[in-house]
Amino acid sequence: MRDATPGTIHLKDYQPPGYLVNRTELHFLLGEEDTIVTSKLHLLRNTEGSSSGELELDGQDLELVEIRLDGEILEADRYELREASLLLRDLPEQCLLSCVTRIQPQLNTSLEGLYRSQTMFCTQCEAEGFRKITYYLDRPDVMSVFTVTIDADASRYPVLLSNGNLEETTLLPSGDTRVVWHDPFPKPSYLFALVAGQLEHVEDSFVTCSGRDVTLRIYVEEKDIDKCGHAMDSLQRSMRWDEERFGREYDLDIFNVVAVDDFNMGAMENKSLNIFNTSCVLCDPDTTTDVGYQRVEAIVAHEYFHNWSGNRVTCRDWFQLSLKEGFTVFRDAEFSSDMGSRTVKRVEDVTLLRSAQFAEDAGPMAHPVRPESYIEINNFYTLTVYEKGAEVVRMIHTLLGPDAFRAGSDLYFERHDGQAVTCEDFVLAMEEASGKDLSQFRNWYSQAGTPRLAVSESWDEDAGAYTLSVAQSCPPTPGQAEKKPFVIPLGIGLLGDAGNLRLQLEGEEPDPELEDNTHTVLMVDQQQQDFVFTGLPEKPVPSLLRGFSAPVRLDFDYSREDLCRLMSGDDDGFVRWDSAQTLAVGVIAEVQQQLASGGEPVVDPLFLQASIQLLQDPSLDPAMLAEMLTLPSENYLAELAGEGAADVDAIHSARRAVQAAVGGHCAQALEQRYRELRVEEAYAASGAQIAARSLRATCLTYLAAAGERGLELAQEQFSAADNITERLSALRVLSHFGKRADWEQPMEQFYKDWGHETLAVNQWLALQATMPDDAAVARVRHLMEHPDFDIRNPNKVRSLVGTFAGQNPVNFHRADGTGYRLLRQIVAELNAINPQIASRLLAPLTKWRYYSGRADLMRAELEQLAALDGLSPDVFEVVSKSLK
Ligand code: TRP
Ligand code: ZN
Repeated sequence: MRDATPGTIHLKDYQPPGYLVNRTELHFLLGEEDTIVTSKLHLLRNTEGSSSGELELDGQDLELVEIRLDGEILEADRYELREASLLLRDLPEQCLLSCVTRIQPQLNTSLEGLYRSQTMFCTQCEAEGFRKITYYLDRPDVMSVFTVTIDADASRYPVLLSNGNLEETTLLPSGDTRVVWHDPFPKPSYLFALVAGQLEHVEDSFVTCSGRDVTLRIYVEEKDIDKCGHAMDSLQRSMRWDEERFGREYDLDIFNVVAVDDFNMGAMENKSLNIFNTSCVLCDPDTTTDVGYQRVEAIVAHEYFHNWSGNRVTCRDWFQLSLKEGFTVFRDAEFSSDMGSRTVKRVEDVTLLRSAQFAEDAGPMAHPVRPESYIEINNFYTLTVYEKGAEVVRMIHTLLGPDAFRAGSDLYFERHDGQAVTCEDFVLAMEEASGKDLSQFRNWYSQAGTPRLAVSESWDEDAGAYTLSVAQSCPPTPGQAEKKPFVIPLGIGLLGDAGNLRLQLEGEEPDPELEDNTHTVLMVDQQQQDFVFTGLPEKPVPSLLRGFSAPVRLDFDYSREDLCRLMSGDDDGFVRWDSAQTLAVGVIAEVQQQLASGGEPVVDPLFLQASIQLLQDPSLDPAMLAEMLTLPSENYLAELAGEGAADVDAIHSARRAVQAAVGGHCAQALEQRYRELRVEEAYAASGAQIAARSLRATCLTYLAAAGERGLELAQEQFSAADNITERLSALRVLSHFGKRADWEQPMEQFYKDWGHETLAVNQWLALQATMPDDAAVARVRHLMEHPDFDIRNPNKVRSLVGTFAGQNPVNFHRADGTGYRLLRQIVAELNAINPQIASRLLAPLTKWRYYSGRADLMRAELEQLAALDGLSPDVFEVVSKSLK
């Protein structure tokens, strides 16, 4: 924490490091009261840096015990201890710098650097946590070969891990155990890791494509040893997939994963020693939902894939974060698509992007995929850098085609192996391998904001010519008033009476080689463009933005009849889903207006009819059907309403009224599907079972929205369930649609049965945080006093408070301001405990511009935070930017 106003760091100020650290030797003496860290840095002046003998090492919350240069104690006038650094002068070109520092991991609640989680020691160094361990050039472009020695009491810490290979284990005269780990691959400090604790492990192996036999281990607390199977299986499938799909082989003989309870994010890709939040690795039918199983698979893959996209080739500076994160999210999304349903995965990703990333891009913290400046880098691990960054990589994949994309990826890895590079280097490799010019495409990296495509049509009956006019624009974002046009790949098809029509663009030669001439990708690269299709037998319905080919908003004035046709008859699964969403958005808006003018809500019969048809369509995968039947979320509807126009109560009531109408109208079909899809076999996280449970939950929701029958079925389901997925979906329906008498007893029962399982309790907290009834704020406050709640544990805070602020719009935005106050108070408290979590929790308050009737209340809370003493840079940045 700093007292002065924290400064801004700019990409344009990047300078190469003055020194390189060829080798790094670390020695840890782990103790209960303090830990002594001794570092030996083999320094070499960087010929590419500004050559002077001055070196500023980063360091935070460290106590310097001793410092030596080439073995000699350094006199006090040769260095200067600053607030967050150690400045050294007159260093020779090459030298050995040794530092002894003292730290107190047991007092470290920020969960970065070396800290304690339960009884173990663990580390989290990305982005800038290593500087809380020892003085160092804590920046990703300084890559070094690490040797790590750990001394610890083996009775408390029988497992002692770090990166790379275990070189020796010895018993010291003191009784402590000493281990030495050596990682042969040079790496930046953010990939360093250390774990010490009383841990059990499961072990398996993987033989790589070139025959390397890799030992795979997952380390957990003893009680969780039976929850590792799914993660291990996911790891093995990821390793095989990366060889086959990207030609990437694993490069060491060992790969370790450790599960920790107290963790700021999902997981961390430290070289050969991935550290995971327990919630992202442990799986058990009684503690992990179906969605949880899929999340574990995706995150295990994501961290594993970082071994190439992130570790072997890393980032030059933190402005390039999306270089590793966007690319790796693209890779893990492709993996998940290959493991399950591609369309369903796409729909899930688009749902997240539209409901949350679009909002970020339209808010006060909006930034490009490659930001130009930041105050606190931890605030830039965002949906924009991760998910929009992955969309940018996906668009390159679309523009180049799969083969040229793979060639570009191969070139990138080959050319930059062992280097710290930039997004520009990635794009250059893609250009060179494909021969395509991506000059204008680069605007996706530098410009923030979600582009908007306004599409209109005209039809020339006599000529059989159909014209699509496309206009692109992008709203202003902080620091960027005007935008240059983007290159937007627009996937399209044209739907005729008898199916998809053959496409012939005016002025283009027909391509007889082309197998599928009913689909094409238009290149939208100007502000305004016309695309003319000729030789058409009838006026088509356009199927637009197929596969969600670009992260844009698209406006086209469809009739409801046309949306229904696309929904049931288009070739593109994404467009079918999207048409259902668009239809639902229109219907909910209509009901919202009816309610506002005091009328009875009348849901368009066309929509009810379409819902029945979907339910009775045997060709639809149940998982896809569940997605198509699920109404757009209240958050997404608020986002669509736009600045100054989101009315959470009206949205909630209208959405409910539509749910009730569909539930009533389709009751028979819903109950029939609900019964048919009952899973008789024992729980498995298989695609078929997950799909069935998902559709059953959707049916149950509609039935409960319409009346008592749904609540009866939910009670039955809760009692009969053999897994947490069905317990929670039943409990959700009871607590969202029932009276206290409906949910009180099962809610207690759940805790009685599963109160001993932390991960189950977290979901129990989260569910209660979403309840829309009037008592919600009081309930959340009450649960904050529950013995299982712990403000120092990020999973608990996210489950209870994060879920409340993010997924309970009617109660967070209560007109009495009590929802806002609750959030502000906990953010103020967390600011001193864990600034990263405090700042992330704050996001819902920053959207005050959307909520006209509440804006003053929301701003008032932000202002209170701004006035707080000892504001962390994390919270300062978000508060000050959102008050601007
Ligand atoms: N690199 C991690 C990932 O791939 C992100 C991460 C994990 C992280 N823990 C963190 C970033 C703590 C900042 C702080 O998802
Ligand atoms: Zn990542």
